[in-house]
Amino acid sequence: MIYPIVIFGSEVLRKPSVEIGEDYPELKKLIEDMFLTMAAAEGVGLAAPQIGKNIRLFVVDCSALGEEDPLCKDFRKVFINPEIYEVSENTILWNEGCLSLPGLHEDVRRPEVIRIRYRDEHFVEHDEEYDGFRARAIQHEYDHLEGKVFTDRLAPLRRQLLKSKLLGMAKGKYRAAYKTK
Ligand code: NI
Repeated sequence: MIYPIVIFGSEVLRKPSVEIGEDYPELKKLIEDMFLTMAAAEGVGLAAPQIGKNIRLFVVDCSALGEEDPLCKDFRKVFINPEIYEVSENTILWNEGCLSLPGLHEDVRRPEVIRIRYRDEHFVEHDEEYDGFRARAIQHEYDHLEGKVFTDRLAPLRRQLLKSKLLGMAKGKYRAAYKTK
C-alpha cells in the first residue's frame, strides 16, 4: 500500500514520536509500505510521522545516489527507536528537500559526522558512525521523529523570508507529483 504523504502544517509532523516494541502490529508490512511509498515519491528517506504515525521509525534508501557517493550504493536501511548520541563539532551546509515540504529546497547546516544507536527491522541493535550523504539523510529523518522539519534549522532571517510560502503550503498551496494529505 502506498500511503499519502502528510504535508507541512499538519500536527502529526510536530509531535515527538514514541518508541515501539517488537510486537508493534504488522510492523513488517508497515516497513514494506514505507519503502513503497518513498520509492513512489522518489524520496531518499521517509519517517513514520510523514505517513501519519507518531512512532520512532524511519527508512532510508540512497542507492540511487551510488554514482556520486559509493557508500550510498547499497544503502537501504530501517531505523527503529534510533538515538543520535554523538555529533561532530564540524558542520557542513547541504541542500535539502523534504517530501512533506514539496517544492522547497534550502541549504541546511548540520554536523558532518554522527553516531547512532538503533534497531533494525529484526530488532537487532546497532551502533554505527556515519558521514557524507548518509549522515545527512539520517539526521533529516531523525528530526521528523522529534517533531522538527528542515526549515526549523534555517537562519531566522531565511525562515522569515519563507514564512508566507510555508503558510501557503500549510493551506494547500503546493504541487506534488505524489499522493498527499
Ligand atoms: Ni523530510
